[in-house]
Amino acid sequence: MKLFTKTLILCLALGLGIAVPAPSPDLAGNDAAVPDRCAGVEFDAIAPDENGDMFFFKGEYLWKGFHGPAQRSNETFKELDDIHDIGHVDAAFRMHNTLKPDDHDHIYFFLDDRVFSYYNRSLEDGYPKKMVDDFPGVPDHLDAAVECPKGECTTDSVLFFKGQDVHVYDIVTKTVKTKTWSHLPPCTSVVQWLEHYYCFHGHNFTRFHPVTGEVDPGYPKDARHYFMKCPNFGHGGDSKVPKCSEIKLDAITTDDSGKTYYFEGSSFMRLDTHRDGLHGFPITRAWKEVTSGVDAVFSYQNKMYLMKDEKVYIYKGDARYTLIEGYPKTLKEELGIEGPVSASFLCPNEHTVHIIQGNRMRDVDLSATPRAVTNDVPLPISDIDAALCGADGVKVFKGAQFYQYDSPMILAMGRILVEPQNITSAMMGCQD
Ligand SMILES: *[C@@H]1O[C@H](CO)[C@@H](O)[C@H](O)[C@H]1NC(C)=O
Ligand SMILES: *[C@@H]1O[C@H](CO)[C@@H](O)[C@H](O)[C@H]1NC(C)=O
Ligand SMILES: *[C@@H]1O[C@H](CO)[C@@H](O)[C@H](O)[C@H]1NC(C)=O
Ligand SMILES: *[C@@H]1O[C@H](CO)[C@@H](O)[C@H](O)[C@H]1NC(C)=O
Repeated sequence: MKLFTKTLILCLALGLGIAVPAPSPDLAGNDAAVPDRCAGVEFDAIAPDENGDMFFFKGEYLWKGFHGPAQRSNETFKELDDIHDIGHVDAAFRMHNTLKPDDHDHIYFFLDDRVFSYYNRSLEDGYPKKMVDDFPGVPDHLDAAVECPKGECTTDSVLFFKGQDVHVYDIVTKTVKTKTWSHLPPCTSVVQWLEHYYCFHGHNFTRFHPVTGEVDPGYPKDARHYFMKCPNFGHGGDSKVPKCSEIKLDAITTDDSGKTYYFEGSSFMRLDTHRDGLHGFPITRAWKEVTSGVDAVFSYQNKMYLMKDEKVYIYKGDARYTLIEGYPKTLKEELGIEGPVSASFLCPNEHTVHIIQGNRMRDVDLSATPRAVTNDVPLPISDIDAALCGADGVKVFKGAQFYQYDSPMILAMGRILVEPQNITSAMMGCQD
């Protein structure tokens, strides 16, 4: 329609022999019509891709990530074009299907009664398909869709939203169960992010439980404070992506559930959530009492030890971290050492924490009382910022580089010359 109007106006102008001025921005199909999400947009669809980049759709436009202007959807997903007659996306989700690697992490778009499947920005063979051929039993002209992996839902599923109905599609059995959640606002888009489920309605969003539909207290909230960077609104996700060459960790640790956290200044980032992208959050969001950053962190028996100056804060880890009563205490009291600490690490299933102070490494046996230094050795490197021990050995971080050792003993012997490696964007989500 738009193309037709444009052509017609151009033809008229030419036919009359009038000099044709440069088309005004809206006729050229850009600028004037470009939506501004900070003005309060009701999104058509929201979904992350295989790299954890979040896409927000509105009409013919999309936004990639939490900041930046809108661009035409067909610049990224080229089949969303005039030929396919697509002016909007009804719903989108990213597939979680570990049983079918060919479908896993694909991003699916729904338009009227058709479905498009993309991976690596390319439309998959055989698409677009009729919805009925790919998702039998799911109604067309959807409002929203979201993945719900096993563990969060009972089985690997997709939730399809239309009106107040939620169609729970089991991707293995291809069966649909329909529920009605009339207490939930009508969602025009739904997204799963960092294990939470968000229904977007107007410029607001509401967090809900993917199985019960129960709404968490404190909602709705204005999306502009959380899911995008807007002037005069809150933090808007993590807007600054540091350069890898400028990274300087304060601390890093992997907890018992396999979550890896890295700390820098007043922020932390989960490093094991690539599927959802890497995002910084204030430390106080997860460890409320730790208000001025950390020097070193380690995890032991479902507890996290965060050290700052002379103090240690011990948190018990469950769904969330809670400070154990009586803490913070002094390092002297808890570990038998004087602060501050440069770095610390504990290897999986071990009881000895390795505390780095200056260029010395001091070992403390956490299974003994009272705690005391059992071993004290000089290290081959100084000015260490952070250290992490895992199945692949010990990583020692210093500025934007790290050194890899097979074990704490090899690090302590210091006789083997190890070349530093650069921190990469794949490790820390920084810019190369
Ligand atoms: C995207 O769509 C617009 C408007 O229909 C069109 O002018 C433009 O050429 C398209 N871009 C691509 C890359 O297909
Ligand atoms: C993704 O697409 C690009 C360009 O189309 C190609 O060079 C690259 O190899 C593809 N990557 C994968 C993982 O398929
Ligand atoms: C958004 O939520 C606020 C309450 O947080 C409410 O007052 C407002 O009417 C809502 N606006 C829309 C467009 O849903
Ligand atoms: C590491 O980074 C430095 C500075 O950014 C650069 O000069 C060097 O080539 C990099 N080394 C490798 C192995 O990539």
